[in-house]
Amino acid sequence: MDAVQAIRGMNDILPEQIGWWQGIERATREVLENFGYCEIRTPIAEKLELFARGIGESTDIVEKEMYAFADRNGDWLALRPEATASIVRAYIQHGMQADPGLRKFYQIGPMFRHERPQKGRYRQFHQIDAEVFGLESPKIDAEMMHMLSLLVERIGISGVALNINTLGCAQCRQIYRQILKDFLVAKGDGFCGDCMRRRETNPLRVFDCKVEGCGQLLQDAPRLIDHICDDCRAHFDAVKDYLEKLGTRYTVNPGIVRGLDYYVRTTFEVITDKLGSQSAIGGGGRYDGLMRDLGGPDVPALGFAMGMERLVLLLQQEKEMAHRAPRCFFASLGDKAGESAFLLAQQLRGQGIETELDYEGRSLKSQMRRADKSGARYVLILGEDELARREVQLRDMLTKTQRILPLENIVETLLATDSEQ
Ligand code: HAM
Repeated sequence: MDAVQAIRGMNDILPEQIGWWQGIERATREVLENFGYCEIRTPIAEKLELFARGIGESTDIVEKEMYAFADRNGDWLALRPEATASIVRAYIQHGMQADPGLRKFYQIGPMFRHERPQKGRYRQFHQIDAEVFGLESPKIDAEMMHMLSLLVERIGISGVALNINTLGCAQCRQIYRQILKDFLVAKGDGFCGDCMRRRETNPLRVFDCKVEGCGQLLQDAPRLIDHICDDCRAHFDAVKDYLEKLGTRYTVNPGIVRGLDYYVRTTFEVITDKLGSQSAIGGGGRYDGLMRDLGGPDVPALGFAMGMERLVLLLQQEKEMAHRAPRCFFASLGDKAGESAFLLAQQLRGQGIETELDYEGRSLKSQMRRADKSGARYVLILGEDELARREVQLRDMLTKTQRILPLENIVETLLATDSEQ
C-alpha cells in the first residue's frame, strides 16, 4: 500500500531546519516589540466573505487562489490567504477603537493560497505580518519601512531593495481608473480573456497579468503616480523625505500596484534578485478605507507582510555562499594556459585567496557556468593569447565588469583588489 504524502505545496519543517525559523522569529519579536508592536493571533479559518470583501472580488487571490469550502453546516469558510483582513476584523469585533490612539499589532503564522508550487512559492506558507491602526501621518509610513529594512538586516539578509510607490486616494483612483480604461479600450481586443474582463470590472488589476502579450500592450499605459491629487502628492513627498532623514534607502517604482484591492497611497515591496521569479520577500502599504468597508469605524491603517519561506531560502543561500564560495575561479583555454592557471592558482591559495579552477580543459562556456555556480566574486580568464602577452582578464561577477591585468604580479594585484572591497 502507498504511504500517504503531505499535500502538494504544503511542507514539513523538519528539526534540522527549525533553527532558521526560530532565529527569524526571535529577530522579528525583538525588532517589532522595540517599535511598540504587540502580538495578536487570529484563527486560520474565517468566513469567506471577509476575504472577498477585504481583498477584493476580482483579485487573483480571491478569484483563483482561495482555499474555500462549505463546512458541515453549509457555512462558507476559507483558510486565510493573508492576515490583514483578519486583524482588521478582530479590531472591529473587539471594539478596539474605544481605546483611542495608535495600535500596533503583529502576527506570525501560516497562510494558504492555491498557487502553482515552485521554489519560494507554496500553498501553505508563513508570514510575518505587521499592522498599525489610527495614524494618517506620513511619519508612520516611513517608520514602518525603516523598521522593515532594520528587520531584514537583523534577520541577516543583505542585498535587498526597497521599492516604493503611491496609489493615490479613492478620488484620484477613480479619475485614473477612467483614464486607464480609455487607454485599454483604445488598445483594442488583443488582451487575454482575464484582462478583457478586468477592463470592465477593475482595470487596475490588468497590471497583475502575467501573459506576455498583455505586458507588451501595457508598456506605455498611463501611470497612476502621474495622476494623483495634491494631498496624495504631499503625503508621498513627506514619506520620501522622512525615509531619507532616517537613512533608509529606497527606489520609487511606479510598477508596484500590489495584488490586493485595499491599498491607497503608499505601497512598497522588498525585493531580491536571488530567488528567481519569486523576487518579493515582503510587501505592504496603506489601506485607509478597509476598516470602513468591513463595517467598522473610519480608522486609517497600514501594514506589511514578509514570506518566511523566502527568508529561510535566502539565509540558507547566504550561508552556503559564505562557506563554500571561492573568491576566485581560474578559467583557462588551451593546454599551456591551463598549466599556468594551475600553478598560479596554487600561489593564490598560498596567499590565502580561496581559488577554484578547471583541471580538465573544458570549454570556456562550461567553465564560466561553473564559475557562476561556485559564487566566486572574481573569474580570472587566461587563454593562449593572454598568456603570450603575459596578461590575464579579471571579471568581477558582482559588478559584471572586466579588466585586463599584467600576469606578473597578479597575486599582489588580487590581494590589493580584495582588500578594497
Ligand atoms: P502579499 O504581497 O500578498 O501581501 O504577501 C506578502 C509576502 O508573502 C510576499 O512578499 C511573499 O514573500 C509572501 N508570499 C505570498 N504568497 C506566497 C506563496 N504562495 N508562497 C510563499 N510566500 C508567499 C499580503 O499578504 C498583505 N496582507 C500584506 C499587508 C499587510 N498589507 C498590509 N498589511
